[in-house]
Amino acid sequence: MKYVIGVDLGTSAVKILLVNQNGEVSNEVSKSYPLIIEKSGYSEQNPEEWVEKTKAGLAELIQQFDGDINDIEGISFSGQMHGLVLVDQNNEVLRNAILWNDTRTTPQCQEIYDTVGKERLLEITKNPALEGFTLPKILWVKEHEPELFERASVFMLPKDYLRYRLTGNIHMEYSDAAGTLLLNVGERNWSSEILESFGLTPDFCPPLVESHDLVGTLTPESAEETGLAETVKIFAGGADNACGAIGSGILSEGKTLCSIGTSGVVLSYEERSDLDFEGKVHYFNHGEENAFYTMGVTLAAGYSLSWYKDTFAKEESFDQFLEGIEEVAPGSNGLLFTPYIVGERTPHADSMIRGTFIGIDAAHERKHFSRAVLEGITFSLNESLEIFRSSGKTIDTIISIGGGAKNETWLQMQADIFNAKIEKLTSEQGPGMGAAMLAAYGCGWFPSLKECAQEFINTSKTYHPIPENVEVYKNVFSIYQQVYNQTKEMNDQLRAFRK
Ligand code: XUL
Repeated sequence: MKYVIGVDLGTSAVKILLVNQNGEVSNEVSKSYPLIIEKSGYSEQNPEEWVEKTKAGLAELIQQFDGDINDIEGISFSGQMHGLVLVDQNNEVLRNAILWNDTRTTPQCQEIYDTVGKERLLEITKNPALEGFTLPKILWVKEHEPELFERASVFMLPKDYLRYRLTGNIHMEYSDAAGTLLLNVGERNWSSEILESFGLTPDFCPPLVESHDLVGTLTPESAEETGLAETVKIFAGGADNACGAIGSGILSEGKTLCSIGTSGVVLSYEERSDLDFEGKVHYFNHGEENAFYTMGVTLAAGYSLSWYKDTFAKEESFDQFLEGIEEVAPGSNGLLFTPYIVGERTPHADSMIRGTFIGIDAAHERKHFSRAVLEGITFSLNESLEIFRSSGKTIDTIISIGGGAKNETWLQMQADIFNAKIEKLTSEQGPGMGAAMLAAYGCGWFPSLKECAQEFINTSKTYHPIPENVEVYKNVFSIYQQVYNQTKEMNDQLRAFRK
């Protein structure tokens, strides 16, 4: 039996999957690392942690593997998007990585609009200037740490830096490059117009490759440290959302995914690069060649739940913590939560808005709060679905992966709030599986990613919307949609008290 490895470099942990030729996960290892939050709005990580934890995870996986090491043919990667890693001319890291959920760059987003123009930016990059994307972070470092920036010779995204450390070769692939605001997404090249507008040169950007391209093998040092063979083939990989799409079989028009990790996304496959969503949803290159996807993002999806649990019941497991939510009727007995704890992206690109519990009643117990948190996250994702639907897309079936697929009540809630069939997969690993599939395709196991998906991906259960719940949720959702505007000004005033 042959194997491939999918490495998913997430925000809270690196998850490593060993997958066999039948698409079965033979083993998995996860190693977590912390966020560095120096002040409200900041979110950083030390790239060295990614490298150490991934090498330790790979070594553990290999120790537990009782087959022939040479049967592990390929490795590929999925990575948290947008994070800025700056290296000097010796490829030494210059500062902590600034992550996708760091929102310090509002002035730099304005600078991008003022310099390039909103319309022109949309034409080239197909996306608006959002705090989370990479170019605003580059401009922030340029402005606030000019001496350090002088020494920067190239920028990388998180998984590209990790892959560089394992292979010694620097590349970036289209699906992740799409989230930098430096790529011409439709033409698939670095935009010289944008680079020049900000005094950046083309050699600041790594060479572009396809997600399934072979980009090297392990360095002798990495092979030694992990126990893998030096000959194992390394494939470029993709952005976590692109890999989530691949790992869930979102490989043809009409397929929609709901993926809940630290952030939550609703995404839809696009064959074409020339549709116009006016920047209301993200429009990125897929990990499949010459394909695209559109996507709405809830910044704190799983993160709202983990923040809530860790703040009020750190010692409990998620299952314990969520006990009893199934006894609470849809609408959480009049308690409503908005998940804006680190700002929001879709449909409100607003880094300053903050979350709310509204309607607290003396009759509410912990289970009402817990259910309200899940409902609030799901309402936020439903706002993205509404954008897709209002553009004419039919969305009647959604594949759900990640944290949202781990709880029966939440899966039914998604069916009821989204008013669509929800499919749970036998393996809801999403990004890690997508990375493994890129390696399987790269190794030539299948003629296409679609054929790999047919072999690897199966539905385990379908949840159908329950009409009376759909009706209740329609009404509560319309109240949810008012909370943003009604609380915006109060949140602006409260900002003065946030450290
Ligand atoms: C997408 C985004 C997040 C990260 C999470 O634009 O910022 O979904 O990719 O890792």
